[in-house]
Amino acid sequence: MATSMVSTGTTSIKELVERLRPTLMMEPHKEDVNACPECGGDGYVYRRDSAGRLLASHCPVCRGLEKARVKTALKLSGIPNAGDGCGIELARGVADYAREFKRLGFSDWLVLTGKPGTGKTTQAAELAKRIITKGGNVRFYNAFNLTRRLIANRKRAEDYYAAFDEFREADLVVLDDFLKSAPARNSFDFNDFYTVTCELLWTRYDDRKPLVITTQKTFNDVALFDSALASRIAEMGKGRFITLGRNATNYRLR
Ligand SMILES: Nc1ncnc2c1ncn2[C@@H]1O[C@H](COP(=O)(O)OP(=O)(O)O)[C@@H](O)[C@H]1O
Ligand SMILES: [Mg+2]
Ligand SMILES: [Zn+2]
Repeated sequence: MATSMVSTGTTSIKELVERLRPTLMMEPHKEDVNACPECGGDGYVYRRDSAGRLLASHCPVCRGLEKARVKTALKLSGIPNAGDGCGIELARGVADYAREFKRLGFSDWLVLTGKPGTGKTTQAAELAKRIITKGGNVRFYNAFNLTRRLIANRKRAEDYYAAFDEFREADLVVLDDFLKSAPARNSFDFNDFYTVTCELLWTRYDDRKPLVITTQKTFNDVALFDSALASRIAEMGKGRFITLGRNATNYRLR
């Protein structure tokens, strides 16, 4: 029996099950190496009150681990000013997205449009932070920096696909300022930019995974860039297109 459980005066459900095992004739417990050492991953610890009744409470160790996970996930996420904590009120459609994110099989895409300074980046960052505190892992990218980095790595397949992996694996990806500073169609740089941009979005599309895009472009602009891409965005967005700052709210000018 683990001494840590005895010393804190609590009993884990695992310990109770171990005690009852001979009577229940259960299979021996398979050790989960990742499980919390205090509660065995149940999230609760048990103790008896003075009358001998069994009381459950949240496992203090798991709580600590969860706090550490959130901290690390925020640090790795690439969210701008991730350390500032949550707080800004989410626009209506963005709040809906955050709420529905945990639904099983949720794969919707969200598009935030609006003029510069209307809060697209701020809304996307706040949304990303909330998904992390709900248990998800998020990657937040400035689209321009990401495509530039990927293009630079294209000649070295290993680096290129490693960069792709984190894009593929995250529960949520945010692409901030999608298509901003896109090279002109007739320029030398266009082909690389086009290929990488399409590959990125198709990665999320093929796996049916959530994606948030912020952009100053209109849907028409996106369709001109690539019509197949635009129709995939329309399909995955399921109507989640939000234009911020309709009432000319430019936070940068305030
Ligand atoms: N809800 C808000 N309340 C107060 N300030 C905000 C809010 N949303 C955005 N801002 C501020 O407005 C400025 C522009 O917001 P930002 O998200 O960068 O806009 P965009 O990405 O659309 O250009 C930033 O300095 C940001 O901190
Ligand atoms: Mg922005
Ligand atoms: Zn625990």
